[in-house]
Amino acid sequence: MAITRLGVLYGGRSGEHEVSLQSATSIVRNIDSTRFTQTLIGITRAGHWYLQPDSVVDSVHAGMPIERVQENEQQLVLFRPGVGLTVNGDLIPMDCVFPVLHGSFGEDGTVQGLLELVGVPYVGAGVLGSALGMDKEIVKRVWQAHRLPAVPFHPFSAAEYRESGTARLPAELNAALGQPPYFVKPACAGSSVGISRIKSFTELDPALKAAFRFDTKVLIEPSIPAREIEVAVLGNHRPRAFTPGEVIPTHEFYDYEAKYIDPNGAELVIPADLPHETLTTARELALAAYRACGACGLARVDLFYDKREEELLLNEINTIPGFTRISMFPRMCAHDGLAYPQLLAQLTELAIEHHSERQSLDGVWTPL
Ligand SMILES: Nc1ncnc2c1ncn2[C@@H]1O[C@H](COP(=O)(O)OP(=O)(O)O)[C@@H](O)[C@H]1O
Ligand SMILES: [Mg+2]
Repeated sequence: MAITRLGVLYGGRSGEHEVSLQSATSIVRNIDSTRFTQTLIGITRAGHWYLQPDSVVDSVHAGMPIERVQENEQQLVLFRPGVGLTVNGDLIPMDCVFPVLHGSFGEDGTVQGLLELVGVPYVGAGVLGSALGMDKEIVKRVWQAHRLPAVPFHPFSAAEYRESGTARLPAELNAALGQPPYFVKPACAGSSVGISRIKSFTELDPALKAAFRFDTKVLIEPSIPAREIEVAVLGNHRPRAFTPGEVIPTHEFYDYEAKYIDPNGAELVIPADLPHETLTTARELALAAYRACGACGLARVDLFYDKREEELLLNEINTIPGFTRISMFPRMCAHDGLAYPQLLAQLTELAIEHHSERQSLDGVWTPL
């Protein structure tokens, strides 16, 4: 079997730098070394790309996590559009890149655009799917256009806030969403950063200030009495949805602490303890949501099961979900019999398939 030269891209400029290092550690450790060679590229918090020494792969195999991106100016990675990624003028030979980058400047279409320009196949959604997945307002508008049920929202911009403050907001929110409690969140962020649950309008101002630290657009949503259901989706043209899981946070909601700091912050249950028909609906909704935003490769679709209304609502789609062995996405795949190393192999195959399909559009592409 041919050996695939996989580039693993990790770190990055987002608040989820650390999570990316953990996901990358799992990938490097679990990749099938009889089928893949690995080239590691680390992105610093400042956004500089460095080729990482092979010793990092060895130390991961010896049980050490990747703790930081090593910065050696001799190993600075540069982009040559139409050619590839280079170090000291030499092309880094890669058949496929896995951008294991969560959040902004990684999961949002920016890195995907760059990889398109250099012409290397990459795992996961393309520019549009990634950008849509990042913007919680626009993706829900797309889902609504497809008549898919999504969590209601009211957008509010930093410019509006600067110009007119919050004076008009309570009346608008009452009309659009009903009475508080609400969730206030940055439109484009992740890992629950900048998110607050508010019980009255007096809490609106500090919640907005917290959210505006992360984006110039925030969403205000009704607080759904929700059970949190997640569905792993894998594939290009015929995506497959895996058995849904449930996240049961022990905190007021699934906040940053519950996700990454408190080891008992949440329980992950697969399958979610819901009637069979509800699980089937969750899978169907996840597939429809995935297709509607043109995702490919993989995504984790997160839904709320409203306990009061007994209905499912789409909350968000993550196009580069957490990827440690204990993360929901790989666990849901493993539950249905797709083990982590095979999952990685399938993702690279999907990336290469997607890239070759686009390259065969001879009206658009000049072969590299
Ligand atoms: N409208 C809502 N109703 C109830 N809980 C919510 C709502 N929005 C967010 N949450 C809670 O906050 C968490 C993080 O919000 P989410 O929209 O998923 O953003 P992130 O991209 O940061 O994960 C959710 O997992 C859930 O616990
Ligand atoms: Mg979420």
